[in-house]
Amino acid sequence: MILVTGGAGFIGSNFVLDWLAQSDEPVLNLDLLTYAGNLENLSSLENNPSHIFVRGDIGDAKLVPELLQNFQPRAVINFAAESHVDRSIHGPEDFIQTNVVGTFHLLESVRAYWSNLGEKPKSAFRFLHVSTDEVYGTLGPKDSAFTETTPYAPNSPYSASKAASDHLVRAYHHTYGLPVLTTNCSNNYGPYHFPEKLIPLCLLNALNGKPLPIYGDGQQVRDWLFVKDHCAAIRRVLDDGKLGETYNVGGWNEKANLDVVNTLCEILDELKPRTNGDSYKAQITFVKDRPGHDRRYAIDATKIERELGWKPQETFETGIRQTVTWYLENQSWVNNVVSGEYRQWLNKQYS
Ligand code: NAD
Ligand code: TYD
Repeated sequence: MILVTGGAGFIGSNFVLDWLAQSDEPVLNLDLLTYAGNLENLSSLENNPSHIFVRGDIGDAKLVPELLQNFQPRAVINFAAESHVDRSIHGPEDFIQTNVVGTFHLLESVRAYWSNLGEKPKSAFRFLHVSTDEVYGTLGPKDSAFTETTPYAPNSPYSASKAASDHLVRAYHHTYGLPVLTTNCSNNYGPYHFPEKLIPLCLLNALNGKPLPIYGDGQQVRDWLFVKDHCAAIRRVLDDGKLGETYNVGGWNEKANLDVVNTLCEILDELKPRTNGDSYKAQITFVKDRPGHDRRYAIDATKIERELGWKPQETFETGIRQTVTWYLENQSWVNNVVSGEYRQWLNKQYS
């Protein structure tokens, strides 16, 4: 079996669902169920004995060794993290705790388990760490995209905490020989995306007649990756990635935020027109910029294509249409996700 951490979050739950749709190999899912974790994402697995869910912290130095001992996974895929830049600006401590200290304890637990494995399972074992392109910092409009050798230059408490975790993972390979793999991916989007992030937030606000908040001039560029493409990339890296290497995963879809939100509005205008006949674009509102806002991220995903044969299947246009359709068809998921805690966050961030 494999151990997935953070498997009730956005990308982790998509990964678990995709994995069990393609494989009989069981998944042990360890997730703390913070505000971002949602077991409803996994409700289709309720009666599936191949999915074992445990609520717990990756930093729990008693629980994690017990789980590893009892379940003997052949791989650990680490998605668990605090993941939202704006929250890291309001309160960085949770990010240090989970992303840095938590990853450290997880590595220690995994190292102890792996060291005691027999020769065959030991050489087959993998620790795959899921990271972000934000560790590379920000690009100017004409700079070439991030490659795996771009120096780290994180700018937010979130990206700094992810960079720290990447360095620890790297060091555990270099020093202890732990068989690690790291992926650095760009902005994901798709089903089960928590509506604090740009795309689901604007989708929900649009449908609820609320402003679509664009930070600053809206010309910040992100490289959008459909979540299922990301999950496929992780499976490829897990199967055939070279130990100790990092792989950049991107969608080859650089878009300015304002263009993303305009596209979203156009699809909504077509699929669920406003009753007064206006475009949803009328709800776009420019708001105060994010402090330290990175201007542009772009991933050069040549290495993973050349070495592992992975490339994204979705363009932004096909992926965003699927995403909008999913949200329109899953209103009960949406309604349940908009909890009290989430409403407090909206008041704090946007008031
Ligand atoms: P998310 O915030 O939606 O989910 C994180 C999950 O981790 C939640 O289910 C949460 O309950 C769980 N978690 C948090 N702290 C934990 C702890 N201490 N122990 C166990 N579980 C804990 O995040 P996501 O968007 O699914 O991102 C997954 C990973 O991918 C993260 O490591 C993130 O840094 C990385 N990443 C995300 C994106 C993106 O666009 N979403 C882009 C690049 C990299
Ligand atoms: P986000 O989804 O938070 O991801 P990240 O900060 O990790 O890239 O934001 C994506 C982009 O959209 C980023 O440039 C910030 C911007 N943004 C807005 O303009 N308005 C918003 O309300 C949010 C949440 C983000």
